[in-house]
Amino acid sequence: MPDQLTKLAYQTLQQGKALLGVTHKEVSTRLMGVLAPDGAPRTVPVPAELLDQLRQAMDRLHDRDWQEAEQGLYPASLLFDAPWLDYAGRYPLVWLDLPLTWQRRRQRRVRDIPDGVDPTAYPEYYLQNFHHQTDGYFSDHSAALYDLQVELLFNGTAEPMRRRVIAPLRRGLQRFAGRAPAQLRVLDVATGTGRTLRQLRAALPKAQLLGLDLSTAYLRQANRWLGQLPGELPQLVQGNAEAMPFADSSVQAISCVFLMHELPAEARQNVIQDCFRLLEPGGVLVLADSIQLADSPQFAAVMENFRRVFHEPYYRNYISDDIEARLQAAGFTDVEAENHFMTRVWSARRPGSPDRAAQDEAA
Ligand SMILES: C[S@@+](CC[C@H](N)C(=O)[O-])C[C@H]1O[C@@H](n2cnc3c(N)ncnc32)[C@H](O)[C@@H]1O
Repeated sequence: MPDQLTKLAYQTLQQGKALLGVTHKEVSTRLMGVLAPDGAPRTVPVPAELLDQLRQAMDRLHDRDWQEAEQGLYPASLLFDAPWLDYAGRYPLVWLDLPLTWQRRRQRRVRDIPDGVDPTAYPEYYLQNFHHQTDGYFSDHSAALYDLQVELLFNGTAEPMRRRVIAPLRRGLQRFAGRAPAQLRVLDVATGTGRTLRQLRAALPKAQLLGLDLSTAYLRQANRWLGQLPGELPQLVQGNAEAMPFADSSVQAISCVFLMHELPAEARQNVIQDCFRLLEPGGVLVLADSIQLADSPQFAAVMENFRRVFHEPYYRNYISDDIEARLQAAGFTDVEAENHFMTRVWSARRPGSPDRAAQDEAA
C-alpha cells in the first residue's frame, strides 16, 4: 500500500513539473515576443480567478491519480514513471525547434510535410503540422520531441490525464471476468508514442495489448518506450483508425486518447463506428480528449487560447461536438462521461453479452 511519504513525493514531483511547464511557456512566449513578434498569436486574457479554478482542477486530478493507485487500479510506481534522462537530453532540441515553429506560424505554413511522404497514403486532413509540429507526424525528430512537448504544454499532467482511462477500462472488462486475463485483447487507437499503452501494460499485465496509429515514426518511438518494459510486447500496427485492419468483434476493450480533436467531424464518427465493429458484444470503449464548451463553459478562454496558439484545425468544431450522440449513433449504450482537469473521458459499451463459447473455452 503506498504510504504518506510516497504521496508527498508524488505531490512534490507534480508541483515541480508544473513549475517547469509554466516557466518554459513563460520564457518561450517572451522570447517569441522579442525574436518573432509578428508571428505571436493574439491570446485572450485569462483572469486570476480562472487560473485559480484551473489550479483546483489540477489538484483534483492529482488526488484522483493518487487514490486510484491506492485502490490498486495500477501500481504506484506508475506515478513516477517518466524517461527523465531521455527528456533531459531532448529538452535542448525542443528549444532548437521553437524558431522553426514560430517561422511556420508567421508564414501560415501548416502543410509543411517532409519530402518523400506519399500524400495518397494518408487522409487529406492528416497531412498537416498539427500544433505547428515540425514535420507533422512524419519524422523520427517529431516523434522524439512529442512526449516532452505535451508534458510541458500540460504542466506535467499528460500522464495523469491518460491514466484516467484505466478505471473505466477495468470496469468494462469485468464483463469478461470469466475469461483468463491473457485472453483479453485491449486496443489503444491512435496510440502515438505508446504512452497510454505503457500505463495499460502496468495496469493489465497479462492482457494482450495492441496499438494502432497512422504514423510509423511515432510507432517506432512507441516500440522504444514499450520495449523497456517486462512482459509481452504490445503489438503495434500502422493503419487508419477509420478502417482498422482487425477482425469484427476481436477485442474486448478499446482506449483512444487525444485523437478526436484532431479529426474532422465525419472522420470522428467513422472512428467511433469502427471501434464499435471491433468490439466483442459487451466490450467497452473509453475515449479521452479535451474538455468541451458544454461541460466546461468556465474554461472557454483556455480552449480558445489553445486553438489560437497551436495549429488545431478541427478543435473549434470538436469543442462543440456532441460525442455522446455520436457514440449512441454508432450503437453504443451506457454512455458515461467525467472531466479530469483538461480532459473529458467517455466510456460506452457495445450492447450484448460476451461470446459464451469463448468464455467457456478460456475457463
Ligand atoms: C495528439 S496525438 C495523441 C497520441 C497519443 N494517443 C497520446 O496520448 O499522446 C494524435 C495521434 O493520432 C494519430 N492519428 C491521427 N489521425 C489518425 C487516423 N486517422 N488514424 C490513426 N491514427 C491517427 C497521430 O498520428 C497521432 O499519433
